[in-house]
Amino acid sequence: MKNFQPQNVPSIFSVCFALVCAVTLFLLASGVSSVSAQEAGNEKFDAKPVQLSDKTFLIAPHGNSVVVVSRLWLILKGECPEEVIHNGQPVRWDSNFGGDVHVSILRLDIGMQKLKIGDQELEFVLGRNEEDHAGPDEWMVYRLHNMKPGRNPCMRCHETEKNADGKIEVGALMNAQDACFKCHIPEKIDVQHSNTIVEEDWRSKCSECHFIHASPYKYLLRQPRESYLKDPSIPEAPEK
Ligand code: HEC
Ligand code: HEC
Ligand code: HEC
Repeated sequence: MKNFQPQNVPSIFSVCFALVCAVTLFLLASGVSSVSAQEAGNEKFDAKPVQLSDKTFLIAPHGNSVVVVSRLWLILKGECPEEVIHNGQPVRWDSNFGGDVHVSILRLDIGMQKLKIGDQELEFVLGRNEEDHAGPDEWMVYRLHNMKPGRNPCMRCHETEKNADGKIEVGALMNAQDACFKCHIPEKIDVQHSNTIVEEDWRSKCSECHFIHASPYKYLLRQPRESYLKDPSIPEAPEK
């Protein structure tokens, strides 16, 4: 039997290293075709837009989720792939919008939904209610902020302008004063956050903790509610 000579060690290392690289590359290459908002199984994740490619972001809805509204806002930002298919039908984009934000209201029937965006496929389910749905048990129920229908519901929170073609371009989020506090009463907001760990300037940073387009957590939070609280044993925000 041949002995291991010390001079063999580096070459054994490099063979192992090359093998690990090859396996990693293979796994990366084979795992890119389906999108899930939930990374790594059931781990807690940040509710935020899903990056579909280096130029395209899916704001809502998200894959592997349950929704309970039958008219659902589909919002894409960035480059819009030519082929966007919902349950076999091409998605009809709302022609009032221009620029790099693409908007469509999907009309859903109860049951599984398939969305194909370019070469990415994702699934979500419309449930009768939060308990009664056809999706796997581990799929979480995603909610979104109420959005009044109309030609431009986005302008309540975003800077919007009409471009030269008369199309609405949706820009950055307005500051909290002009967006959130148009409807939310400051004194009430203060009370509702009395058990929340906040920094001094929190009243101008609502969206650091809330993601209002698609969140699986209570109060449309980015993280589970408990992670923001001074005393997680207090069950609900006081004085709703
Ligand atoms: C009730 C307030 C509200 C309304 C109404 C609203 N948004 Fe938003 N939107 C937000 C908040 C909050 C964020 C998160 C911003 C952040 O991450 O800083 C956001 C993020 C986005 C983003 C991602 C922005 C980026 O650059 O990453 C897009 C795109 C977007 N919204 C589009 C829309 C469209 C289109 C509409 C109308 C159909 C709309 N929004 C209506 C509050 C709103
Ligand atoms: C056009 C009015 C309006 C604007 C603008 C608005 N909201 Fe709201 N928001 C409401 C109403 C009305 C409700 C209560 C909805 C309900 O009970 O279903 C609500 C509910 C909420 C909730 C609780 C949702 C839940 O599921 O418990 C959060 C969080 C919230 N808003 C955050 C924001 C933030 C952050 C902004 C600014 C980016 C914002 N809102 C802008 C009207 C508004
Ligand atoms: C530091 C994180 C954080 C920031 C910043 C923040 N929130 Fe919240 N918000 C929370 C948490 C946590 C809750 C749930 C509080 C509880 O259950 O005690 C909540 C609850 C709410 C609710 C629901 C209250 C209810 O009982 O229905 C509304 C509405 C809301 N926030 C709006 C806002 C608005 C508007 C802003 C910006 C002015 C804002 N939040 C900033 C963390 C935050």
